[in-house]
Amino acid sequence: MDESIRLGDKTFVPYLQADVINDAVVRVADQINFDLSGQKPLFLVVLNGAFIFAADLLRNIRLECEISCVKFSSYHGTTSTGVVNELIGLKEDIAGRTVVIIEDIVDSGNTIVKIVDLLKSKHAGDIRIATLLYKPQAYNKNQHIHYRGLEIPNDFIVGYGLDYDGLGRNLKDIFVIKSEE
Ligand code: IMP
Ligand code: MG
Repeated sequence: MDESIRLGDKTFVPYLQADVINDAVVRVADQINFDLSGQKPLFLVVLNGAFIFAADLLRNIRLECEISCVKFSSYHGTTSTGVVNELIGLKEDIAGRTVVIIEDIVDSGNTIVKIVDLLKSKHAGDIRIATLLYKPQAYNKNQHIHYRGLEIPNDFIVGYGLDYDGLGRNLKDIFVIKSEE
């Protein structure tokens, strides 16, 4: 049976089934529950990609906590300052607080490092990172990634929140791009 799917001009094949993903999500939640026991963290969900992971992860979190959704954006400022990074949607005062960033995937690490820098500039206390997926072969930063659901090779994947050109976020399973024959 051909279980491949078509998104735009690309073909993807099954890679991680929903039950495998769920086991990883529960594992990450258990670690966070254990590590942050007695604390009242703020979870920052990085949109769009992390929305499904966050929904499943947070329903397994038993800590008293707050949740906020943010969007990272990077643009060229109008002044001479060059690239400006900002976190859209962050209203909370995070000074001194334990903040857990929820990401869908850490690839090169460029995005996560910029987000961590922004949170440090707002004087966050303990900053932790929880990502569903992690590509060790692509990651080239020193920043420690505290919670990693699944390590994957350096291939392009979609589903469970992750997209190809805006498509595929709704898929229950994760699919990997089919190599060109
Ligand atoms: P990084 O800055 O290279 O770590 O990755 C930044 C963003 O690229 C992630 O948050 C995703 O939105 C996107 N990304 C990286 N790898 C993939 C992938 O395999 N599929 C879909 N999106 C990806
Ligand atoms: Mg993302």
